[in-house]
Amino acid sequence: MIQYRENRLRGVDWNDLESLPPAERAPYFMNGKSVYHVLFAQQFDREFLDRICELATRTRRIAKTRGGMMFLKELLAEKRAMLYFAQPSSRTFLSFLASCEILGLRSGEVRDSNTSSEMKGESPEDTVRTFSSYFDMIIMRHPQGGFAERIAWLLSNSERPIPVINAGSGADQHPTQALLDVYTLQRSFEGQGGIEGKRIAFVGDLARGRTVRSLATLMTHYPGVHLSFIAPPALQIDEGILRTLDSAGIAYELGENLVGKLPDLDAVYMTRIQDEWDTEGESEAIDVSAYAITVERLALMKDSAVIMHPLPRRSEISPEVDSDPRAKYWRQVRNGMWIRAALIMNILDRAGEVDRYYDDLVS
Ligand code: NCD
Repeated sequence: MIQYRENRLRGVDWNDLESLPPAERAPYFMNGKSVYHVLFAQQFDREFLDRICELATRTRRIAKTRGGMMFLKELLAEKRAMLYFAQPSSRTFLSFLASCEILGLRSGEVRDSNTSSEMKGESPEDTVRTFSSYFDMIIMRHPQGGFAERIAWLLSNSERPIPVINAGSGADQHPTQALLDVYTLQRSFEGQGGIEGKRIAFVGDLARGRTVRSLATLMTHYPGVHLSFIAPPALQIDEGILRTLDSAGIAYELGENLVGKLPDLDAVYMTRIQDEWDTEGESEAIDVSAYAITVERLALMKDSAVIMHPLPRRSEISPEVDSDPRAKYWRQVRNGMWIRAALIMNILDRAGEVDRYYDDLVS
């Protein structure tokens, strides 16, 4: 087990914790000065974001040689991670699996709670607590917002605290997707003064898309960005996120007209309609073609603009757009593997070893 230097969750009442706003809950999930449980985007500050992006870049450079790959493979060879995905996933699941493999971390998986003892009436809390007896870390996706947080609290109050990473919680948060999105933006704007000052639009289902909620929250660390939330009125971003942006002094606007906005944008973050959350097919009436990038619309965008999507996509981006250098969504997938590897080594306290290996490599 990793040394849990400062377990601030021990003895804390769950209801008291849950009633705090995210920014005030965040310190409880730290291990001293570093992240331990990774649950929501409000846990990350700018220093952490810069550090984790740098660590991801160092890791991918180390991995360019066989010797480097073998070094990484040894890094966490004595650890085990549980991948508990109680909601559909292919990208995020495989991304975490690949990052565990890069670091030599062995993994177990439950992807269908029908195959676990939950079917025998066990509570999900007990199921996850069982995992903690066999594993050193839990990476979990769950349909219920806040569930990963409750598990983190539960385990931190058990005799075997192990870190929990939220790989998507309901319509609520997707903090590791937000990390890979920031990493992609940072790399895309490297030669253009960074993310600061850029005009970024979020398009599609902003009410129920958890990736947007997490990424928009992280934009508060990039002064001068201007955000546009472009969505059908029924699927607009919620007030809570806008209040967060207000208090950070981030400029934003809400609208419905994507085409009119395209020439001004430095980045466009497309999302699909999340109709799995519909109660009575209410999204069927939406004209999704108004919130899509086609080859014709691509012509309206700046040459330096970037197009992102957390995937899976439907008709929001025509496949013909894929070959355009502005399309970055396949890069996002690759970046996700490296940023998750960086995050895992950070949580399990091995980042220093990677830094030393890297320094030797470049000296
Ligand atoms: C997203 C998700 O699951 O929130 N996908 C992902 O993790 N890359 C987006 C989506 O499902 O639309």
